[in-house]
Amino acid sequence: MFMAGRVHFGPGVSSKAGELVRGFGAERALIVTDPTMERLGIAERIADHVRKAGVDVSIFSSVEPEPSVETTDVAADLARERKVQAVIGLGGGSSMDVAKAVSVLVTNEGSAAKYQGLGLVKNPGVPKIMIPTTAGTGSEVTFTAVLIRKSDGVKGGINSDFLYPEMSLLDPELTVSMPRHVTASTGMDALAHALEAYTSLKASPFSDMFAEEAITRIGRWLRVAAFNGRNIEARGEMMLAALFGGVALANAGVTACHALAYPLGGMFGVAHGTANALLIPHVARWNAPASPERFADAAALLGYPQEEGEPDHVAALFCAEALDDLVEDLGLPATLDDLDVGITEAHFDEMAEKAMGVARPMENNPRVMTKDDCVTIYREAME
Ligand SMILES: [Fe+2]
Repeated sequence: MFMAGRVHFGPGVSSKAGELVRGFGAERALIVTDPTMERLGIAERIADHVRKAGVDVSIFSSVEPEPSVETTDVAADLARERKVQAVIGLGGGSSMDVAKAVSVLVTNEGSAAKYQGLGLVKNPGVPKIMIPTTAGTGSEVTFTAVLIRKSDGVKGGINSDFLYPEMSLLDPELTVSMPRHVTASTGMDALAHALEAYTSLKASPFSDMFAEEAITRIGRWLRVAAFNGRNIEARGEMMLAALFGGVALANAGVTACHALAYPLGGMFGVAHGTANALLIPHVARWNAPASPERFADAAALLGYPQEEGEPDHVAALFCAEALDDLVEDLGLPATLDDLDVGITEAHFDEMAEKAMGVARPMENNPRVMTKDDCVTIYREAME
């Protein structure tokens, strides 16, 4: 089993960032974040907490939505130049991924591109502290940093045990300003992690425990968090759900939904959570016959319990139904057409080819999926 180091949870917990960074013996730290966090003043607020603990802190706030190797290298150069002893990742998955990469680039020379792959990082990095401001990616608890190379457009993860964060601070107060559509799409990404881990061929009692807790919480709280963003209980439950989904994913992997979502991001720039939200009902419907009991259980966790005497294969389809309802209620795009990014049938072959190339998630999928099956699912998702 894999888990991050320490996790602190609760409203206002991010104000402890300074003493916690100091606790690692760090005298110089770098905050890695995005322009929105800077504009909202959240980056400066966290920097203040860190400074008050006597830690010298710099802010790098140029992380883009699909973070690049190039941006990561600039942040890493800054971290090396300032000789930082801790890296704080503040923001969504992008900022956290870049922060995780920077933490190992301080102690491993060269460009981030050198380490894209599995287990290529030689030396442990400096301590990294994650402060998520969305509730979805689970990056605060995983060992991956996904970076795109601007030079050739190839997207690849740095996957290394040295990327597991030493500490995560889950402060629901930092997520109250998240707009409805971001709350919705990132929350659906967390649900995809949990459901895919739950139905993965690599699922274990350990990952199940986290997946079940995540699915239950998201079924109960995602609508509330999206439509009443100031509800701190809903925000807190969603942060926990994202964390649990991340633990489930780190241990059991994801399946075909994430593989099929990948080309939507790569070829058409569709946000990761939006792509997964759109596809997850279709993948759940398609996978259900291969793992009826699991999908029936997941449906029940989402609030669609199995009727007495109802066969598993029937109850299993209610999982897809529950997901359809969530996507509709949250006002997320439900079809490839709705995305309005110019996807046509003519693209399906290339999309399917790319999805099949996402090997590990495809291998984890409970139902064997071929390239033709990918096309079938894209077609079903079209309108
Ligand atoms: Fe994801």
